[in-house]
Amino acid sequence: MATNKILVMSLIIVGAMLGGVIPGVTTGKTAKACPLYCLQVEYMTCLSSGDAKLPPRCNCCLAPKNCTLHLSDSTSIHCK
Ligand SMILES: *[C@@H]1O[C@H](CO)[C@@H](O)[C@H](O)[C@H]1NC(C)=O
Repeated sequence: MATNKILVMSLIIVGAMLGGVIPGVTTGKTAKACPLYCLQVEYMTCLSSGDAKLPPRCNCCLAPKNCTLHLSDSTSIHCK
């Protein structure tokens, strides 16, 4: 049954995607799922670290609060 195999495969893929989200929940204190998209972040700065350029985070959900993501198109996003 080829259709059955496809169904099982899609379940595995969906499961893997969910599995990718759930570990993000366990790393933070608050239970929230972060979207797993990546912006073109060049570097990150945080209020607490002053002007220091920190390693980029994919998006604001994954970045600490009061940090700014500096994108490669020279825009920036402040994370609250
Ligand atoms: C973020 O910065 C504001 C203004 O300096 C401060 O009041 C607030 O406590 C900071 N929040 C966090 C999570 O550090």
